[in-house]
Amino acid sequence: MQFHKYDVLIVGAGGAGMRAAIESGQRARTAVLTKIYPTRSHTGAAQGGMCAALSNVEEDNWEWHTFDTIKGGDYLVDQDAAEIMAKEAIDAVLDLERMGLPFNRTPEGKIDQRRFGGHTREHGTAPVRRACYAADRTGHMILQTLYQNCIKHGVEFFNEFYVLDVNMSTNEDGEEVCTGAVAYELATGEIHVFEAKSVVFATGGFGKVFKTTSNAHTLTGDGMGIVYRKGLPLEDMEFYQFHPTGLAGLGILISEAVRGEGGILRNVDGERFMERYAPTIKDLAPRDIVARSMALEVLEGRGCGSNKDYVLLDVTHLGEEVLESKLPDITAFSRTYLGVDPISEPVPVYPTAHYAMGGIPTNVDGEVLRDNETSVSGLYAAGECACVSVHGSNRLGTNSLLDINVFGRRAGIAAAEYAHSREHVEMPEEPAKLVQGMVDHLRTAHGGERVANIRTALQETMDANASVYRTEDTLKQALSDVQLLKERYGRIAVHDKGMRFNSDLLEAVELGFLLDLAEALVNSALARKESRGGHAREDYGARDDTNFMRHSMSYKQLPDAEDPDAPLGLTGFLADIRLDYKPVSVTRYQPMERKY
Ligand code: FUM
Repeated sequence: MQFHKYDVLIVGAGGAGMRAAIESGQRARTAVLTKIYPTRSHTGAAQGGMCAALSNVEEDNWEWHTFDTIKGGDYLVDQDAAEIMAKEAIDAVLDLERMGLPFNRTPEGKIDQRRFGGHTREHGTAPVRRACYAADRTGHMILQTLYQNCIKHGVEFFNEFYVLDVNMSTNEDGEEVCTGAVAYELATGEIHVFEAKSVVFATGGFGKVFKTTSNAHTLTGDGMGIVYRKGLPLEDMEFYQFHPTGLAGLGILISEAVRGEGGILRNVDGERFMERYAPTIKDLAPRDIVARSMALEVLEGRGCGSNKDYVLLDVTHLGEEVLESKLPDITAFSRTYLGVDPISEPVPVYPTAHYAMGGIPTNVDGEVLRDNETSVSGLYAAGECACVSVHGSNRLGTNSLLDINVFGRRAGIAAAEYAHSREHVEMPEEPAKLVQGMVDHLRTAHGGERVANIRTALQETMDANASVYRTEDTLKQALSDVQLLKERYGRIAVHDKGMRFNSDLLEAVELGFLLDLAEALVNSALARKESRGGHAREDYGARDDTNFMRHSMSYKQLPDAEDPDAPLGLTGFLADIRLDYKPVSVTRYQPMERKY
């Protein structure tokens, strides 16, 4: 076992983690721990842009952006947080420009801007050009730029260090504070204890609970799972976003920027069906509306192909020059994965699981909430694993790259300032006990269950029962399936008993987190008997502000530590969930009917 001591630990090296590290690294001794090499992080897959009301190509302002974010989120957005995000967006883009990000430019040399879903002028009258972009590789460019700047500022990276636990201790004032984290080094199988005054989780989402997803294999909700297993809440877990345009049957992302540049969705009759669902902004309606409309077209028999199970994204009118210069990656993806050349034929698409609106609840400085009133000293979260909540029940496209920059920066500053204001508090007596127990258990387990089989079954039930449309029956089916899978998970065997790059063990741990998070998602979805944003219930089709204009808070009921039958330590035991609710912060706009 190895010991390390820092002021600030950042867990995760995607956009949020590295933006936090740039701030923290200039103020305090900072280490970044990451499961994968930083530039492989999933931020790199965010394609179309990062929005800010720069007004570079047409009139815009942060107030319109705030309004769009709140309405886009179906009024479950905390409005004070959305206002901060929209105001700070402008500096966030300019910061990236100063750091060297190669944005596309207008002929006059300004940062160019394109349209994106739900971003409008004058409170919804027409789409507005608000997304700053670097072709269809914006996230990739952000990741490279942030990594270079972290190196410039001397941030220390621990690559392929998989954090499995966070430590808490009680200080002299009787306050529970965060004191560090414990990581498993993938290359060696060694356990490392990192003592720190503050810890920032920036570990991304958990899209791998679904089979059809735009998410990479690494998106297993580790940070959310760790925090949840400490008895801390997860907020708004029922709201999972299905991006309208995944490559049909595969889920690979085709950027919304395609529609921003003029792409059109068509059904089997060639009809531009979004004209019926969102007459004003059509194909550029927010994602929840477009995904629901696509699913309805298919359900009502207007889908395409021999199984009538997808619709078409038509860009044939845009021309080769636009596609090759502004959308080169997605053009290549269509050719490579479906053998379809978008220049001459429409691309088969269907919604794909894309983004968690919910996550670890935080305030606007990234401090993790213990409950509706108090926060956990020294513990922070930012990015997709966190819920500020600026996305409410449905995030607008490009607000994710914005979120990681605005709230990553804020969390990095706050974590470093906290570290300056405090002394190190002693870690618990055996800080690595839980992780050591989990790793030993998995390495020596001899059950008959295989990780891959359980993961496949999980993803299949989530796709079938907790996707764009849900009902009481499908959600109950998903819940009982997940709980059965958790029982089977208790009997898994890890076949590789070795120390070095034991990906078998890694996947077993990840599956435990996925099972916990799937259970929380389905449980809170069952309780929300309304349709709002990313949560569409066939049996409760309307939004119900009287009963459900509130955030859900899921608490895992921890097993009795003394119970000898409480199995597996960290690794995903069966547990009840306590569901609570938190008010939405409404500072500017009362909820209205949502028309586009
Ligand atoms: O469609 C896209 O380019 C995805 C962007 C996002 O999720 O914000």
